Amino acid sequence: MKIVHTIRSWLARRYDIGLVEEFVDEQAHKPLPPHVGFWHTFGTLSAYLFVNQVVTGILLMIYYRPTTDTAFESIRFIITKAHFGWLIRGLHAWGSTMMILCVLVHMCRTYFMGAYKKPRELTWVLGVLSLGCTVTFGFTGYLLPWNQLSYWATTVGTEITGVIPWVGQYFMTLLRGGDGVTGETLSRFYVMHVVVLPWVLTGLIAVHLFLMRVQGLATMERVGEEKPIDKSRGIPFFPNHIVKEGVIFCLMLAMLVTLIVLWPVELGEKADPLKTPKGIKPEWYFLSTYQLLKFFPKTLGLFVSLIPGLLLVLWPFLDRSPERNPRKRPIAVAIGVFALALALIFGALGYFSEREITFSGRTYDFDAYAVPHRIEPGKK
Ligand code: HEM
Repeated sequence: MKIVHTIRSWLARRYDIGLVEEFVDEQAHKPLPPHVGFWHTFGTLSAYLFVNQVVTGILLMIYYRPTTDTAFESIRFIITKAHFGWLIRGLHAWGSTMMILCVLVHMCRTYFMGAYKKPRELTWVLGVLSLGCTVTFGFTGYLLPWNQLSYWATTVGTEITGVIPWVGQYFMTLLRGGDGVTGETLSRFYVMHVVVLPWVLTGLIAVHLFLMRVQGLATMERVGEEKPIDKSRGIPFFPNHIVKEGVIFCLMLAMLVTLIVLWPVELGEKADPLKTPKGIKPEWYFLSTYQLLKFFPKTLGLFVSLIPGLLLVLWPFLDRSPERNPRKRPIAVAIGVFALALALIFGALGYFSEREITFSGRTYDFDAYAVPHRIEPGKK
């Protein structure tokens, strides 16, 4: 590491870098609680994936043109003609899916390990806001290729806001920039996606990480009984934990490239406002909400779908038990498992609904509630 030493001495001869060095040294060698391991890498992985989104997003912006006449064609140009365009677009599209997945796994980890309890309630609330921001990234980005699926999914998605009593119509017009989904909507979503959301999420993550660093990672001890982690019982952040995170990051990159090569994200057909395609579906992370909405009248459905988000924000203030160890908080663990199972079941129902699927030679038509109806051969 001669080069690091040379740069350090060059700087030290010119600036008083003692304070910075002390800070970096303290942060790098901060011992982490002894239970910190694989599951604790998903927070950093989410942050890495956010960096991936920013870098690949900037590269895509070189050729992407956000108008109804050029958006679809510019993405086609990127994936067919621009050098490594297919790879950059793949990293961005698959990266968004992976980022949402990692943020969700990270949230489940902090939930089941009781890390949201006092004094880390605010870290949790900022996390929920980051999750909201991340899925809004997904929602606004989905429209940008201006293909049939994205156009119609956005039409249905923005329509939902119209049912909010009194302000719904105003809110929907504000989102769309008019009555329907048009070039105005594309401009608004583009600005949200490339300017507003990146800065908001950067700010949220920065404060989230600052709080996490200042308070340290939660131990498994009861609330109020946490003892400071000294070097004898803790795991060094550097090199132990950082190396683990590096290895997981490399595995994630390998997985991303494999996914891009084996399952490239389709561009589909260009948006046609006059031709409604069959089976318009939102992205996978909205499937459970999409299915849930079918079981209620419109306005009631909207309010019901807001309940999980509200419960998530308030959870650290509702769960007052001092235990963090999952074995000692069976009710909170059961609630978490139940909520996860519900989300998965509704998501699967949303996926299968309004689809025709053939199983071992028999074709079934799944209706809006995902109930299968056999189609007799020759009766289609
Ligand atoms: C873009 C989104 C996010 C990023 C980049 C991020 C990043 C991180 C990182 C690097 C850590 C420390 C290591 C770890 O525990 O994995 C952390 C801790 C934490 N995060 Fe997040 N996070 C995000 C979203 C969330 C969400 C959605 C929640 C929950 C709703 C959440 C709640 C927490 C909590 C409670 C801690 C403290 C953990 C402890 O003390 O053990 N975070 N976050």
